Amino acid sequence: MVAYQRAAGTTQELNGLLFKYKLAKALTLLSLVAVITMTLASVVFPENLQQFFGDNKSSDIESDDVPTSSQQDQQQKSGVKTATECRLPSSLHMPSSGKGQYTPPAPHDSVLKAVKLAHQDDIDAYCQHWDPVQGFDPVIPYNTHGECGHWQDKYTELHQQRLEQLERLKAGDIESFSHDDTPLYVSYLCKEVPANSNRGCGGLADRMSGMISTFFYALLTNRAYLAHWANENPIPLEILFEQPNVNWTYQPNQMKSLFTSQPDNELMSFQQVDTLNQNYDGLGSIMFRDGPSQDFAELWNASYVEVRSNRAYIIRTFDHSTHYPEILAKLGLTKENAFGCIADYLFRPTIGARKYINAYRELFALRSVLSIGIQIRTNDQALANPQNDDNTLEKWFYYFKCANEFALAKKTPHHQRIVYFLVTDSHKLRDEFEQMNEDASLRAKYLGVENMEVTSTVVTNLPLEHIEPDQVAKYIDVEIPLEVSRERMTPGVNSAMIENWLLGYTDLRVISPQGYGKMAAFHSRSDHTTISLPRLPSKAKSLNCADPKVTGYYDLSWLSHQWSLG
Ligand SMILES: *[C@@H]1O[C@H](CO)[C@@H](O)[C@H](O)[C@H]1NC(C)=O
Ligand SMILES: *[C@@H]1O[C@H](CO)[C@@H](O)[C@H](O)[C@H]1NC(C)=O
Ligand SMILES: *[C@@H]1O[C@H](CO)[C@@H](O)[C@H](O)[C@H]1NC(C)=O
Repeated sequence: MVAYQRAAGTTQELNGLLFKYKLAKALTLLSLVAVITMTLASVVFPENLQQFFGDNKSSDIESDDVPTSSQQDQQQKSGVKTATECRLPSSLHMPSSGKGQYTPPAPHDSVLKAVKLAHQDDIDAYCQHWDPVQGFDPVIPYNTHGECGHWQDKYTELHQQRLEQLERLKAGDIESFSHDDTPLYVSYLCKEVPANSNRGCGGLADRMSGMISTFFYALLTNRAYLAHWANENPIPLEILFEQPNVNWTYQPNQMKSLFTSQPDNELMSFQQVDTLNQNYDGLGSIMFRDGPSQDFAELWNASYVEVRSNRAYIIRTFDHSTHYPEILAKLGLTKENAFGCIADYLFRPTIGARKYINAYRELFALRSVLSIGIQIRTNDQALANPQNDDNTLEKWFYYFKCANEFALAKKTPHHQRIVYFLVTDSHKLRDEFEQMNEDASLRAKYLGVENMEVTSTVVTNLPLEHIEPDQVAKYIDVEIPLEVSRERMTPGVNSAMIENWLLGYTDLRVISPQGYGKMAAFHSRSDHTTISLPRLPSKAKSLNCADPKVTGYYDLSWLSHQWSLG
């Protein structure tokens, strides 16, 4: 193991970085000017829109109608597809999200390349989500057909009541509780990464496991749910996510001192729970202390419970508990939908991230498209030292072989196109993968002759970063250390989230065995649509991913026994 030192760069390196920064800044300004110019032009010369936004090929489209947001809303509400036709631009630009808000880059060109090869009806449907001024539609529907059950309103109400009770506790107004039940709270806390210890909160998958499971506990025990990431580890949670339903923001120190300030007051007691890095059996002895009939309310009885966790127990509860599956079914929650429905209830990506996500999500959902997410975690080396990245399509061929077999097995007659979407920590692999769009010989070699003519390869252009770089630096010698600041980390953390959400929106997935791909499988709200390739390449290579027994084997229950559990 090589000890890591955050070496200060030489002056030369710093100058190089400064230059790159200036270049990036200049390019950003330039594209901003271009966007403004195009926007103005579309207002002043609407008939020239087509020329401005390129693509003059679709001369069969005559209407000049470009749907406005309100027209789109109307269509979504009424569910009636109107005959409004629109044109896709030659590239999808990304308007600024506003001051201080994260703005992703414009979606990668590979998205539109793939859209334009879909069925014409699908192209038109996709186009309805595009607005030349506002960019892509930011609406990600939630529970529009009751697919996430009907616990949300009741929980939102409970949460508000608990927050109101908290204000009275803070004010010391104890008398007013004579007719109230005891107000109960549970918080998820991610602290700073301690030096010389392996007790960080982990990457995004670990954190989501802890956060979503802690809410699951709150829902089943009538507690208000709160969540906090240490401000510099790596950014506040509030910068990454909006709060579409309940306000989970809290101050850990303030909350803890309030609930420890009056030891004799039965309304105020405090308890810490730590399940960081527990294995399957260890977590089982914590969560199901008294066996499968465990009542969670009896587990931790303090009025305020502070949880540190990177482990999940939702699917496990469905599989193992004799008490909760029936209660959960009444709420409309199942083993398949619980993780995704809770995640989307609590955490909404910010507007720029949602526009970016939707540009891909709407492609993945097209009827004529079978979308397959492929997640290849190479190792932390490619992220830590990208200058030494030696990953190639050849090296990771067995992932594509599995995806090819999976696609052939799942393809139905309405699937005219197959879209492969790659998520990886290697820039080099991502670039090579996208080149397959232009290179038939690469496609023949890695996608197979049956699929090569109908398959598009789609990637993002988001920066690739580990969200706990200090943690990685403990076991990898980082040659060019990153500066960890909020400005620096916001795009990287958003990338990790966006790519994970996207992986959950594809029809099928072939993933690496660690937590990241698995979380997307949980988020997808569907079972038997993910194949988790064995860690051992020889074993992974011998798998036949067209065999239904393979998807049957790597189901959600199986996944919930691995890594950060489930
Ligand atoms: C665009 O198409 C129109 C008619 O289809 C044609 O008259 C015009 O020259 C084309 N413009 C370009 C830039 O190709
Ligand atoms: C959420 O609660 C926090 C802490 O009580 C408060 O500062 C913040 O303004 C609230 N956020 C919203 C959107 O109401
Ligand atoms: C929690 O349970 C323990 C053990 O059963 C008990 O000693 C303690 O008084 C309880 N605390 C509260 C706040 O109910």
